Amino acid sequence: MSIQPVGQSFGRSVVGQKSVWIGTNWKMNKGPAEAVAAARALESFRPPPGVRSFVIPPFTSLRDVCSVLEDSALMVGAQNMHWKDSGAWTGEVSAPMIAECGASLVEIGHSERRQHFGETDWTVNLKVLAALRHGLRPLICIGDTLDEFEFGVSPETLARQTKIALNGVAQKDLGQVLIAYEPVWAIGSAGRPAEAAFVSEIHTRLRAVVREIAGESGVRIPLLYGGSVSQANIRDYVALPDVDGVFVGRAAWEPADFMKLVNSVSGLVSRKAAA
Ligand code: 13P
Repeated sequence: MSIQPVGQSFGRSVVGQKSVWIGTNWKMNKGPAEAVAAARALESFRPPPGVRSFVIPPFTSLRDVCSVLEDSALMVGAQNMHWKDSGAWTGEVSAPMIAECGASLVEIGHSERRQHFGETDWTVNLKVLAALRHGLRPLICIGDTLDEFEFGVSPETLARQTKIALNGVAQKDLGQVLIAYEPVWAIGSAGRPAEAAFVSEIHTRLRAVVREIAGESGVRIPLLYGGSVSQANIRDYVALPDVDGVFVGRAAWEPADFMKLVNSVSGLVSRKAAA
């Protein structure tokens, strides 16, 4: 399969195509100098066939990272966006601004934004629609809190978040959407990685939710898992039939670690494609 270079407007996914997606969210780390150094270290990296990789730097490093990775095999994304194109929204960044930097995807609704910055299902939906209008692939993050997990209502929460996020998305645009299931209780140094069996069950349920939304279009929306993914567990997640990749924080911030993680799934990709 072909790798989509950075800076291109998104190409239409092949319906039913199975790729493995591995990306890293740098969060509030790496200012321009450090980010450019990391991007240079990744510039000539070629993920194994069938693996699509991306990095998501903070805004102040976005344009520089896009420039360095312009002809590389890696996509670059932004960590957030506003749903309006421009206007009196101090401190915000719009989809056209992100696209102008050369990014091809944008993370929307990460749990750290939902938790600390008042992001809601409603704003997530507005942002998803705006991202698609501007040719950006929305990487929609959904996740259950520890309370929801312990009460056993994770599937309900995730179905709600997914259905609202995708409300009003045209069938023709569904092929551009990515979803990352990131349990709030699994993210960060205080988190614990979700059991692979639990992730499998959740993703199979999510597959049913998105299949219902995709209807007859037959689009397979990639479902990624995120939350304390590491070298020790990445293959356990990627091997699951309804997991189409992983979204990684700490374990992939160092370029050498990122490349190692991406390379570590190579044997799994062809097996998944054949499944
Ligand atoms: P960690 O891999 O550090 O738990 O972070 C995951 C994450 O939040 C990716 O968006």
